[in-house]
Amino acid sequence: MSAIYEDPGVLAEYLLFHYGSAEETLPADVNWPPGMAGSLGFAVRTPSHFSGSCVARGLDLGCAVGRSAFEMTRSCDHVIGIDFSHAFIAAANTLRKGDPISYQRLDEAHRKTALSAILPEGVDATKTSFIQGDAMHLPGNLGTFDRVHAANLICRLTDPGLLLDRLPHLLNRGGELVLATPCTWLEGFTAPEKWPDGGTLDWLKDRLGSSFELTSCGDEPFLIRETARKFQWTRSMLTVWRKR
Ligand SMILES: C[S@@+](CC[C@H](N)C(=O)[O-])C[C@H]1O[C@@H](n2cnc3c(N)ncnc32)[C@H](O)[C@@H]1O
Repeated sequence: MSAIYEDPGVLAEYLLFHYGSAEETLPADVNWPPGMAGSLGFAVRTPSHFSGSCVARGLDLGCAVGRSAFEMTRSCDHVIGIDFSHAFIAAANTLRKGDPISYQRLDEAHRKTALSAILPEGVDATKTSFIQGDAMHLPGNLGTFDRVHAANLICRLTDPGLLLDRLPHLLNRGGELVLATPCTWLEGFTAPEKWPDGGTLDWLKDRLGSSFELTSCGDEPFLIRETARKFQWTRSMLTVWRKR
């Protein structure tokens, strides 16, 4: 599995992506192309696709540095975040304890800006647990959930079918699944024989349709700042499913 998510530079990119302010990501002294500002806040927007009611248990797979898991606690009694990266889980656990994380935003070359990530306001971090683990080989005793969130994860897995096969067993009847993917299938993460044969949406319907009803499908843009001048500006396909 790829080690890029252990890299300190990528950790800093994700701390900014999940916890950075608009000004820290897109400083106001630049006339940014329209639409970039609207692509901020992805890790907050994706869990907002769950229904508003309060539920008992949530799971965030590929949780990275934890923002969506923290957001899910606003309407879940407890949320487990699981990620393969030790560095990301360590960062999520630091924030969970209420400690800030100092990091360096890369601007260019040796030029960096010191920033700090903190737990979002109004979040009760005691409702979270973060575990380093593999979404393709989840522990058998994880239990079942009312909500499962997996954003931009499946096209980073060596064998996404293993997770898709496990999902029906993770959700309670009537439970909600939010699955977002930019459909960025790359050989460096997933062997081509494990990619969808056709479109990713048809593949998901085929793999999930017997256990889940697809309740909505749309796009959520996101923006990951790499340097002051280079961004990943991408459209993730976000699907919402209800367990039959
Ligand atoms: C593109 S990032 C998306 C992170 C986060 N969900 C977001 O939307 O910002 C992919 C994440 O999946 C994690 N990941 C990759 N392979 C994994 C696996 N087998 N099990 C769990 N997490 C994995 C990476 O460490 C990384 O945090």
